[in-house]
Amino acid sequence: MTSDKIQRVGVIGAGIMGSGIAEVSARAHVDVLVFEKTRELAAAGRARILRSLDRGVSTGKITEREREQAAWRLRFTSDLEDFADRQLVVEAVVEDEKTKAEIFTELDKVVTDPNAVLASNTSSIPIMKLGIATTAPERVIGMHFFNPVPVLPLVEVVTTLKTGRAVSQRAESFASDILGKQVVRSSDRAGFIANALLVPYLLSAVRMVESGFATKEDVDKAMVLGCAHPMGPLELTDLVGLDTVKSIADSMYDEFKEPLYSAPPLLLRMVEAGLVGKKSGAGFYEYA
Ligand code: CAA
Repeated sequence: MTSDKIQRVGVIGAGIMGSGIAEVSARAHVDVLVFEKTRELAAAGRARILRSLDRGVSTGKITEREREQAAWRLRFTSDLEDFADRQLVVEAVVEDEKTKAEIFTELDKVVTDPNAVLASNTSSIPIMKLGIATTAPERVIGMHFFNPVPVLPLVEVVTTLKTGRAVSQRAESFASDILGKQVVRSSDRAGFIANALLVPYLLSAVRMVESGFATKEDVDKAMVLGCAHPMGPLELTDLVGLDTVKSIADSMYDEFKEPLYSAPPLLLRMVEAGLVGKKSGAGFYEYA
């Protein structure tokens, strides 16, 4: 008989978000299998997680022994078939509906447990669009984490018109009881709760800089010193990734047709130029 408690997790994608989700799961004593397309991407993902675990040790959040044990619980694969025994899979690939839908179609075939949870960490794509890529949309749900995942305590749980009640309970209980995160529940609308509020703010900051209204440094300083935000909107756009902010804006614009959600030309040009933020070494600011 299989235990109801989720002990075997799969994470698809070892980018910033996938690595973070894999790390917090491994730190929570869960067996974690991470999918990446190539050995090189897997190696980069593992290195990112190990750096973060080291940071956890140096900031006193975990012990050396916890870091070692977490590292042991992480395995990587380039074969989705290896996900057959997973009880929960969190997809965290690029913010592209077609790519995500193809992964859900594959997961639907591979993951055998009818009670398994198939979750997407999408920042904005309506979850139903991924549910319909499977034969069992009741297994599909949104579990949206925040960057940096080891630091930020929130998970937005997004249920669709078809998500099963047992599936949403399992997802919530995994996030709160196992990972120790706080859960908020959102309707299945592009952007969910946090990004529906955050992204128009980030886009407004880009527009301010674009129009010459204020410098990027002053926009950021205003929000850090005047509103006690941990970082200003342009630095945060760099952290999230300009490409990701654009994709979220596009999904929300597609859904609501609000000018507030349309990506400003400066953002588009920077994405085209490859200036996508911290992960690429440069965005609004430069990173060593
Ligand atoms: N593991 C565990 N803990 C860690 C850690 C790690 N790898 N790295 C840092 N920490 C802890 C530190 O110990 C510290 O904890 P205390 O406050 O208890 O001392 C805390 O995290 C902050 O770390 P630092 O002091 O090193 O860093 P900082 O003060 O410069 O903060 C930051 C950095 C956490 C990124 C902060 O600037 C911040 O929260 N920025 C805003 C981030 C944000 O808004 N993210 C959401 C983006 S939107 C999103 O993600 C959703 C989407 O779909 C786009």
